[in-house]
Amino acid sequence: MMGRRRVLTYYLILTTLVISLYYYIGIGDYINTLNIEDEFHYPLDVDIKPLIEDMKAGREPSIAPINVYPYNFMTTIDKCRGKPVDLLILVKSAMEHFDLRTAIRDTWGKENNLMDETVRVLFFLGVTDESNSALQKKVDQEITFYNDIVQIDFIDAYYNNTIKTMMAFRWAYDHCDEARYYLFSDDDMYISVANLLDYTNFHERSAYSVYDDATKANTVDTDKSKALFAGFVFKSRPHRYLGSKWRVSLDEYPWNKWPPYVSAGAYVVSNNVLKSLYLGSMFVKHFRFDDIYLGIVAKKAGVTPVMCEEFYFYKKSHPMTSYKKVIASHGFDDPKELITVWRHWN
Ligand SMILES: *[C@@H]1O[C@H](CO)[C@@H](O)[C@H](O)[C@H]1NC(C)=O
Repeated sequence: MMGRRRVLTYYLILTTLVISLYYYIGIGDYINTLNIEDEFHYPLDVDIKPLIEDMKAGREPSIAPINVYPYNFMTTIDKCRGKPVDLLILVKSAMEHFDLRTAIRDTWGKENNLMDETVRVLFFLGVTDESNSALQKKVDQEITFYNDIVQIDFIDAYYNNTIKTMMAFRWAYDHCDEARYYLFSDDDMYISVANLLDYTNFHERSAYSVYDDATKANTVDTDKSKALFAGFVFKSRPHRYLGSKWRVSLDEYPWNKWPPYVSAGAYVVSNNVLKSLYLGSMFVKHFRFDDIYLGIVAKKAGVTPVMCEEFYFYKKSHPMTSYKKVIASHGFDDPKELITVWRHWN
């Protein structure tokens, strides 16, 4: 027979274990989570589509924006003047990644690589909390030399990623609102601009033609051909366990699944989708993960993310497999590797 004290100790240990599991793994959160299929809502709890349409038409929206980032562009740059731009590439970069930016300028970011299409490339950087640092001085030199950097006065940190992304959206909306497509990319990506443009051109042509049952003929659906938000689409659930870099509390997001969202490494949006997402974001509460935030805004704005298998959110192995059709591949944080692979396939 166990002594009374031992039984008590066992109970104590068991209870502690259960309670820590409940909180650590987030079982409580899983139990209390809401079902996204039931009717998704996320603040502001209004239909944002008419508000977007109002703003696109230059009318005052009936509700005032709730989410406007109070940051400024520190560099003025005129990338989209002159020739109509087919593709604007917005690269989210970290201040200290000089070598990656150089490698991108030498490979997929070379602006006059293609004969027929006009491509422009810009890097988006935040700042450090030390405005006079050696790092900032080096970035200042780079800005003067290349004239392809937009620096924004927020402190660059992982959980500030949404700020960088949405400020890049703002830049595109304010200073380059007539490009046909916009590619958002991280600075550790392999990109094939030629394959991307093949994909967008194909989308435009095929979406144009829609078979109409009533008239038994193909009709033209211009809205569809002009709407694109594509990349690697995830359908996943929030992490609830403590200690996860991606843990999200129920207060922050109460639903059991994320809306479909496109991996942040690289994605392409068409002109009118860029505007819908940017204007829509003003009415959607900030969320610190940028890819999920855009998924939420897209859902509320009525934009459906499109899965494109040629966007790899991991590093597609090489040289064992072909990069012939790859549009984007993640994990190129070694500039030499990027240059080698890119030269081989382009
Ligand atoms: C994000 O940027 C803001 C504005 O610069 C800053 O106050 C905040 O500390 C930054 N967040 C992190 C996690 O560094």
